[in-house]
Amino acid sequence: MRGGCALVALCIVLAPHAFAQPTDAIDALFAWVRQLGGTINAEVKVNKDGFRGLFASQDIPENGTIASIPAAAIMNVGGLNESFAVPTLMVLREFKDPNTRFAPYTAMWPAPDGLVNSCNMHEKYIKMWKSEYWERNQRDWQYHLESLHKGTLNPDIEYTIAEVVGNTPVSIEDLQYACAISSTRYVSTSRRQRLLMAPIFDLANHDRDCLHLLGPYDVSDFLTFLAGAPLKKGDEICYSYGALRDDYAVAHYGFLPRLEYPPRLALVDHPDQDPASYSHDQPPSEQPFTGTPEEMRTEMERLLAIYRQVKALPDSLPPQPKGTDYTYDLMKELEARRLAALEWHISDLASKLGTKAEL
Ligand SMILES: *[C@@H]1O[C@H](CO)[C@@H](O)[C@H](O)[C@H]1NC(C)=O
Ligand SMILES: *[C@@H]1O[C@H](CO)[C@@H](O)[C@H](O)[C@H]1NC(C)=O
Repeated sequence: MRGGCALVALCIVLAPHAFAQPTDAIDALFAWVRQLGGTINAEVKVNKDGFRGLFASQDIPENGTIASIPAAAIMNVGGLNESFAVPTLMVLREFKDPNTRFAPYTAMWPAPDGLVNSCNMHEKYIKMWKSEYWERNQRDWQYHLESLHKGTLNPDIEYTIAEVVGNTPVSIEDLQYACAISSTRYVSTSRRQRLLMAPIFDLANHDRDCLHLLGPYDVSDFLTFLAGAPLKKGDEICYSYGALRDDYAVAHYGFLPRLEYPPRLALVDHPDQDPASYSHDQPPSEQPFTGTPEEMRTEMERLLAIYRQVKALPDSLPPQPKGTDYTYDLMKELEARRLAALEWHISDLASKLGTKAEL
């Protein structure tokens, strides 16, 4: 199975609940990157929403360097055209190795219970997707990792578990964790078409419209994180993981992006696109649907059918008090946002048609 994010500019996660990292681990990471020859004009602080983020430690002009990350600090976890067993196993190798040279970097990764995406989400949540597409996606990941664990993928994969970690015991949970870490953090640059896991810049929080960018990694052994707009000392530094719709963001990164207005339809509900062919480079339109009255009526009926179907599906898990289960809360919030977006777009079409929507 291919990684859901392959061929995109960036895939990283910062599950915001996982940020209780000791600051000496951050200091050690920065010292390590600098010792390897890197430059970092940024520091880690807590932002106004209480999440860890990356902040400019000095004024940085447009096109100036936020950080340059040396190749020796970057984990090269595979090629874009390889199966996702490769990045999973490359990450597995480092976190199973007590002497890994990446220790200052791996120490910054969230713990297994501190991140969630389709690789490691417990199957008890599958029905909470209330979407055939996302339920299948999660089952596919589960099946892929179980097959990798049993060795039944061996004839078709680039490396087996034993080839990578020898006799070190490996559990299915280890593979799920390694898969979640690699699938949420790799980047690929225009020139160096590899799955690269680079420290420092992955501390920047997602903002869809963010202007800061990665250089092409084409002239030297440094991956540069560049200011797409001038930064003042103390400004929070963002990065855009792409046009992430809520459902895509939860499946791939385990977090919900900032709520926007008008509410954005889930990827699986958007009229433009087959979710399986989503690409960060050609995201679905952000404009509310418009067309001939006939087209708008058809679209309204389509959204209404989805809305009624989601509303009619029973809850698969008993209600939980908020704050007791991160994944449960995340999936519930996703469902609430999805329904609110459907309602908004149905009403918008109804008002354009001069009718009333029967929700
Ligand atoms: C930054 O780089 C872009 C693209 O190369 C260029 O168009 C722009 O003029 C540069 N800005 C400054 C302030 O140099
Ligand atoms: C990946 O495969 C595609 C299509 O087969 C090919 O065009 C592309 O050059 C390959 N990319 C790499 C980095 O091998």
